[in-house]
Amino acid sequence: MIKLSAFKGRDILSMLDFTRKDIEYIFKIAEKMEPIAFNRKRTDLLKDYVMATLFFEPSTRTRLSFETAMLRLGGGVTGWASPEVSRTAIETIPDTAKVIEGYVDVVVMRHKENGAPALYAKNSAVPVISGGDGTNEHPTQALLDLYTIEREKGSIDEVKVLLMGNMDQRAMHSLPFALAKFDDTEVFILAPDDKDRQMPKWAIDKFDKLGLKYSNVQNVEEVIEEVDVIYPIYAKPYTEEGFMKPVEDRFKITKEKLKNAKKDLLVMHALPRIDELSTDVDDTPHAKYFKQSGYGIPVRMALLALVLGKA
Ligand code: CP
Repeated sequence: MIKLSAFKGRDILSMLDFTRKDIEYIFKIAEKMEPIAFNRKRTDLLKDYVMATLFFEPSTRTRLSFETAMLRLGGGVTGWASPEVSRTAIETIPDTAKVIEGYVDVVVMRHKENGAPALYAKNSAVPVISGGDGTNEHPTQALLDLYTIEREKGSIDEVKVLLMGNMDQRAMHSLPFALAKFDDTEVFILAPDDKDRQMPKWAIDKFDKLGLKYSNVQNVEEVIEEVDVIYPIYAKPYTEEGFMKPVEDRFKITKEKLKNAKKDLLVMHALPRIDELSTDVDDTPHAKYFKQSGYGIPVRMALLALVLGKA
């Protein structure tokens, strides 16, 4: 059994840092948090603690679910409305970390630069949780994605996941890294033809190192009968004028496309949908995206309690 002390003070920066045992332990705590999260209760477990949300990019799900998680655990929350009203434009990340460690007990940071939360963490005496960095990783998104699969299907082992859309998105890297920690998982990749929207080489190299089974597909129909999870993200290219071109049909999930799917197929989504996910899927039993965003609360409650040594 993993020791609680293994989490106390730990930074959460990459899914590559987690073992299967770590993930299972987080999920055990998350399950205990569910009655508080889903019955909209509050405890005083973290009453002496304050969390800062340092978001340098827009967010609905990650920021509000972390803030809700902290409030339900009885803790306090601070952060700016937007980075423009902070001093971060004229202060280095290491100096910002040194200032803020004097105020709070844990930091959740989202930044447009790859590696910014890691640089912050290196200079911070309090634990740092990445809320997503650039085109690199979004580890807590992957944790709640896996938690959704576990809670909705009962097991993560042997799941086959279709990732579709722009593979330069950070959530498209952390999820396969996490899946690779489980037995006989498989990933299908449906990406646009442009090189800069395909799965980046650095991520593919990690898949190979982790022993993850993956392959490229050309359309949903190729794998619809065998996949357990569909995970779409927008796939819109920009024109030279900066306008989005219409999304190609092969990157759209519709109710019609799900007619040959497994009965318990989960359609998940980490971000606001644009037009890659039709609203006619909402009324099918496959639609799990709103439930998935709700699972963010117990998972993030568990992470906060663990890194603060109070789970
Ligand atoms: N999943 C995710 O990162 O969503 P937000 O941008 O709304 O936080």
